[in-house]
Amino acid sequence: MFRFVKVMNKEDLPVGKSAIVMAGNEEIALFNYKGEYYAIANKCPHKGGPLGEGRVQEGIVICPNHEWRFNLKNGENMQNPDLSIKSYPVRLRNEKIYIGFKKGAEKAFGKDPNALPASIKFNIPTIQKPINPEEEL
Ligand code: FES
Repeated sequence: MFRFVKVMNKEDLPVGKSAIVMAGNEEIALFNYKGEYYAIANKCPHKGGPLGEGRVQEGIVICPNHEWRFNLKNGENMQNPDLSIKSYPVRLRNEKIYIGFKKGAEKAFGKDPNALPASIKFNIPTIQKPINPEEEL
């Protein structure tokens, strides 16, 4: 169902960091939150704020522009489910991070989906703050 595309090395995304990666036309915010990887659309549906630069609290990323909130697991908007964004499965294989794209969507990327032009745009030291200060990241 999904075609997994390598986007970066595991060592480049330590716990507490995020990155914005490009795969084809899709701009994706990738997070390492407490050792788990999550990928959602980078563009906030409000006014396009970069969610990959947002801070994360309790598994929720907060848009840096006007603080709309999205669940890292499924892209659900916490205020209004109609404003949810795309989320992508993430896999780890041989110390590399892969993001899954639905088959069929690959047409947008050209004939060979393995040759997707995935590239790192930039890494962001996302602030991942637990609400409870006793909680470990
Ligand atoms: S652009 Fe994200 S909340 Fe406004």
